Amino acid sequence: MTYPAEHSEHTGEVERRAADGDPIPDPGLHEPPPRYTDVDPSANKRAERQVVGMFTLASVFIVASIVAYVLFEIEPSEGVSNVGDVQVSNFALGITLGLALLLIGIGAVHWSRSLMTSPEFAEKRKPLTSSEDVRQDTLASFNTGAHETGFGRRKMIRNSMFGALALLPLPAVVLLRDLGPLPGDSKEHTVWDEGVRLLSDVTYEPIRAADVDLGQLINVMPETFRELPEHGPERLNERAKSPVMLVRMLPEELSPAQGRENWHIDGIIAYSKICTHTGCPISLYERTTHHMLCPCHQSTFDLADNGKVIFGPATRNLPQLPLAVDDQGYLIAQSDFTEPVGPTYWERGTR
Ligand code: FES
Repeated sequence: MTYPAEHSEHTGEVERRAADGDPIPDPGLHEPPPRYTDVDPSANKRAERQVVGMFTLASVFIVASIVAYVLFEIEPSEGVSNVGDVQVSNFALGITLGLALLLIGIGAVHWSRSLMTSPEFAEKRKPLTSSEDVRQDTLASFNTGAHETGFGRRKMIRNSMFGALALLPLPAVVLLRDLGPLPGDSKEHTVWDEGVRLLSDVTYEPIRAADVDLGQLINVMPETFRELPEHGPERLNERAKSPVMLVRMLPEELSPAQGRENWHIDGIIAYSKICTHTGCPISLYERTTHHMLCPCHQSTFDLADNGKVIFGPATRNLPQLPLAVDDQGYLIAQSDFTEPVGPTYWERGTR
């Protein structure tokens, strides 16, 4: 059954009618059932006293919080720790202000539910559709416009305009070329390669395995980075992709995945420094848990467990760089990374 709405000229309100044309009676407003405070004057008085009591007690706690603030000394005195005083002060301020807010809230709710009148209101809606007159006017002005422009008659003008509009986006597509060369497979490779030494990115010196301390983290770069042109996109590109961090832990703390058993040198492991979420550089290393935290969105990786994501929005483990030592005891890469470094992207392959 449908209920067409009719617009009353006089009131602007909607009168609903059933399919047979009979008006549907307005259900009217409901009187809420009386509350205990409506029928019992002593209960009404008691509720009023309770509300007043809560607001008064809240005022007492507010004053108490000011007293607590003044009372407890939190300025450090020379050579004496005041941590205990600060804790007591914080506790006193928290408890007094917290209780004051709680009492104000409970008092307000009690007041509104027990004592305030709560009549029911209904807001009548106006019809959302335009009136028949307005619709006819709109249609007439549209037809007049179509006639005056000759849009329907002058087919050649119309079609040539559509053609021009269809070609209009093309220059924008051509201008995309100015954004630079397509990345191709450059995201799949870095300048790390078999035998490339790891350089400290502070001293630019190669690193001996024996010089890396337990728990130490060193940011490193590939030795081949020095051979890149001083400026230009190639250097910038590699600078963005190649940073690596080196950490040392006890070999027995590592749980290398199958095939990665020989990727560490006596507990020294290396991972890409580029977060696999959106590419922030990471190096907040928690030595006792071996967790590496990205400061941007808190992705956390377990370096003892193949750079596995254990928290946060990243969905890929940190790529690991396989390590070896050369005959002079310096750390070198066994190969490039075996998977793309950096954020996940849509064309990422499975290498
Ligand atoms: S970039 Fe590292 S968590 Fe977002």
